[in-house]
Amino acid sequence: MSAVPSMVTQTVPAFVKHKKLIAWVQEIASLTQPKNIVWCDGSEAEYDRLSAEMVAAGTLRKLNPEKRPNSYLAWSDPSDVARVEDRTYICSEKEEDAGPTNNWKAPAEMRETLNGLFAGSMKGRTLYVVPFSMGPLGSPIAHIGVELSDSPYVVTNMRMMTRMGKAVYDVLGENGEFVPCVHTVGAPLEAGQKDVAWPCNPTTKYIVHYPETREIWSYGSGYGGNALLGKKCLALRIASTMGRDQGWLAEHMLILGVTSPEGKKYHVAAAFPSACGKTNFAMLIPPASMDGWKVTTIGDDIAWIKPDAQGKLRAINPEAGYFGVAPGTNTKTNSNCMASLNANVIFTNVALTDDGDVWWEGLTKEAPAHLVDWTGQDWTPDCGRKASHPNARFTVAAEQNPVIDANWDNPEGVAIDAFIFGGRRSTTVPLVTEAKNWVEGVYMAATMGSETTAAAFGQQGVVRRDPFAMLPFCGYNMSDYFAHWLELGNKLESSGAKLPSIFCVNWFRTDENGKFIWPGFGDNMRVLKWMLERVEGKGKGVEHVFGTSPSYEDLTWDGLDFTADQFKAITSIDKAAWEKELELHAELFEKLKHNLPKALEDTRAAISKRLAA
Ligand code: OXD
Ligand code: MN
Repeated sequence: MSAVPSMVTQTVPAFVKHKKLIAWVQEIASLTQPKNIVWCDGSEAEYDRLSAEMVAAGTLRKLNPEKRPNSYLAWSDPSDVARVEDRTYICSEKEEDAGPTNNWKAPAEMRETLNGLFAGSMKGRTLYVVPFSMGPLGSPIAHIGVELSDSPYVVTNMRMMTRMGKAVYDVLGENGEFVPCVHTVGAPLEAGQKDVAWPCNPTTKYIVHYPETREIWSYGSGYGGNALLGKKCLALRIASTMGRDQGWLAEHMLILGVTSPEGKKYHVAAAFPSACGKTNFAMLIPPASMDGWKVTTIGDDIAWIKPDAQGKLRAINPEAGYFGVAPGTNTKTNSNCMASLNANVIFTNVALTDDGDVWWEGLTKEAPAHLVDWTGQDWTPDCGRKASHPNARFTVAAEQNPVIDANWDNPEGVAIDAFIFGGRRSTTVPLVTEAKNWVEGVYMAATMGSETTAAAFGQQGVVRRDPFAMLPFCGYNMSDYFAHWLELGNKLESSGAKLPSIFCVNWFRTDENGKFIWPGFGDNMRVLKWMLERVEGKGKGVEHVFGTSPSYEDLTWDGLDFTADQFKAITSIDKAAWEKELELHAELFEKLKHNLPKALEDTRAAISKRLAA
């Protein structure tokens, strides 16, 4: 096609020995026509060089090194601020394999569209070859990806978010397997054309997955999950299909270590929809009155969970960094998180202070008198605009977390004792419920609902069903995914393994003024303690139509002024509201009826009958 292929061959470093990879890079370069190719080695020198280039290009600002050493601030194009779910596709051969919750196009048709868009899409830009491992390098549970991207911002973020660099080529060797990921910001530069600070395609975006051939193609966006393809695209959408085929789970879950005052260690995996305080829960600081308890972080967003030889489910965090929501984070809500952000951070879409540091809504009680906001405009507290975008983010290496778990990088993973599923619901769903059994737990997770947040582009504050918090991330038919959970549970149980308990939580019930009743944050430790007592078979509770919840006396209240009436307000089960809720479950099941496991329909009927009784 062009002269690029021979140039690729010339620039392949000696440490790359994988012929298929080299040929693929050549093929993509021929298609996209970059001005040059850089094979990334993941070194600090490379990180510093790319960061300096981005500072010169206006993509990054270097923050005041006295306030925030080795840290940068990026402001994206206002059209490119969140994942684009309506532009995200699962292109399986059969539409029914993508299911009704995913956008679908036939692979051949999508390939034609993308070939057209990617042709010449990197003109005037550098193509970076970014090798990365999801999971500890060389571990049997890790998987390798290679992202070809024309965004240096992607390269520096991937270096923190994954195990990225030269060592991956050693693991790949001459013919190791990798998931090919192609990314362009979709903004080619014609000869002499001046670049912009945040190149992207303001009108055309595609985030495409081919589950059968395990490929990812992303066009037009430079932001977060749209562009850092190891995260949602590989570690969830593609990995969920691998898990279905190979008998494991790829989940939108944080992973916690919890150590009791007696020194017993538990591990819990918890699924919450985007921007529901997952990072806060993952770094929870128990209240002072419970300081014998210790919480440590294994992961903050994604868990890969595989049964071991004994049938115990073991989890790893496939990521190596956090891409967390900044607004609302402060030393009170999450001092561990704040401590991890002292240095070596890439901030995106937060505001810049006059002394070269960052600020976001909620960081301090009082806003500074003057800022430059995320759109680059002067900002004062009375200007009527937000200084940072609600989906503004920080990117930071997991190792900077002061409460990182000693086993966070252990290739064997940690044994899971309990699963927690949590939606954001201002009404109806009680503070905490333990499911009666695995099937009812799967039912609870499958019917989870949540009021929408800023992490996804679209309308906010509307309840949408978000099964397992996986709605935007399941790479195949949601009903087949439910069946996979049920089958795995069945298989493990019949082999004699003890399955993790399943709990459903809701921290977000509000009073008549719309204020949250439950204090949340560190006080969630009170709920966690009760769950672990239940895991031990010791915790008391009240059985009701959906499962078991604690009564007021069953939780520890030392150090918190929370009345029995308040407790009632967040745990009461309103029969009429639940009758409506069950109708909505039926609506969801109608939508998902193709391959919907009968066990879930039966559970709905059973709960409905119990409610009526
Ligand atoms: C995330 C998300 O960024 O879930 O983690 O959107
Ligand atoms: Mn997430």
